[in-house]
Amino acid sequence: MAKLWGGAFDKETDKQVEVFTASMAVDERMWEVDIAGSIAHATMLGGEGILLKAEAEQIIAGLQQVGEGIRAGKLVFNPDAEDVHSEIERFLTDAIGPVAGKLHTARSRNDQVATDTRLYLRGKLVEFNRELKLTQEWLLSAARKEKETVLPGMTHLQHAQPVSLAHHLLAYFWMFSRDRERIADLAKRVNRMPLGSAALAGTPFPINRQKTAKLMGFDAPTENSLDAVSDRDYVVEFLSDASLIMMHLSRLSEELIIWSTPEFGFVRLDDSVTTGSSIMPQKKNPDVAELIRGKTGRVYGALMGALTMLKALPLSYNRDLQEDKTFLFEGVDTALSSIRLMRLMLTTAKFNAERMEKSLAGDFSNATEIADYLAARGMPFRQAHEVSGKTVKYCIEHRKAIEELTLAELQSVHPGFASDVLPLLSHAAAMKARKSEGGTGVEAVEAQIAKAELALN
Ligand code: ARG
Repeated sequence: MAKLWGGAFDKETDKQVEVFTASMAVDERMWEVDIAGSIAHATMLGGEGILLKAEAEQIIAGLQQVGEGIRAGKLVFNPDAEDVHSEIERFLTDAIGPVAGKLHTARSRNDQVATDTRLYLRGKLVEFNRELKLTQEWLLSAARKEKETVLPGMTHLQHAQPVSLAHHLLAYFWMFSRDRERIADLAKRVNRMPLGSAALAGTPFPINRQKTAKLMGFDAPTENSLDAVSDRDYVVEFLSDASLIMMHLSRLSEELIIWSTPEFGFVRLDDSVTTGSSIMPQKKNPDVAELIRGKTGRVYGALMGALTMLKALPLSYNRDLQEDKTFLFEGVDTALSSIRLMRLMLTTAKFNAERMEKSLAGDFSNATEIADYLAARGMPFRQAHEVSGKTVKYCIEHRKAIEELTLAELQSVHPGFASDVLPLLSHAAAMKARKSEGGTGVEAVEAQIAKAELALN
């Protein structure tokens, strides 16, 4: 196959080497940003008089034509080609003839691919922000409706203290809020333009990098050409951010899986997002949640792969770097689809408040109320905790729930109880009592929702 670099070679490349070194199958998706980068480069070359105006115009029109051809399916990439950059140059040459060869003036594939990767990722970060925000919006609107819905708050997956469903859902809101902050911060470092670094050392042509950067919407050109062609920090950073997103999604998935078991029954996942079993007709399997949990491993793997690929690479460009895109795209595809599918599961899910309430009955997750009641009336908390423990023991021995105890029974455990303790012992009261900032009480959650609204925009 014809090469971009065949001039000094006497022999054909071995077929196995061609296959082994090709990245066409992986980087095809960068065609659009590759064309956009080339148009900006040609515009700058024409503007600075490095190419004749007419030549630059011919190249730009040719690139636009190539773009339309690819979009319309008229131009098809040769799967055996070296990479997307060489294929687009081939299309351009077919379209406008040898003047196409002038596009590569003052440019190398090394700064070209780094520019393309940043442009591609920049677009994807916008999508990530949008998808996460939509998910947050759903969580927030669900929280507004579930401020009084009580379920067991857990530690060690044991009933600990009652919380509202709103509070539980909002916990995920804040995880995704941090995820969006990280993405926004990363976007600043992604939006630097390597183009003009050429192969590694810059170029003798009087290029105008400020202008090219502006044309592509980059904040500024990169400062050092050696760094620019070999830096893939942003790939690692993205995969780290995506790993945290997947970790959050997998925790939520795990809860949906547990909550949708008959033992819990806190949520019913919609038929449209569950799958059946070929032999057990009663089954509705939470495969989507399980696969989000499972696919988390792919993104962690991509992160480790990218870090390992970069380790100990000497400056500047090395072909190892071509592997970056396999990892990057794995992270982008897996995390984006996982966020979307999570939202599909959530927006069609039905929560079952009755089952939540049932699971609370007699679970002693209101035992802290007893201790808090006595401590608020002057008893040292350690002692109050002991009285509370004795009350639980009394309940177990008499097969009663804390919320069913009479004042006389409570006073038989300790004389410090008065009738005002009784309304405090329901699970709903226990939840509502936790009004401290950031707590599960209704007013605290209302304040939290107000903060969430601010954080969203
Ligand atoms: N396909 C290559 C990559 O993704 C493009 C850069 C090739 N540069 C080179 N010096 N061989 O990294």
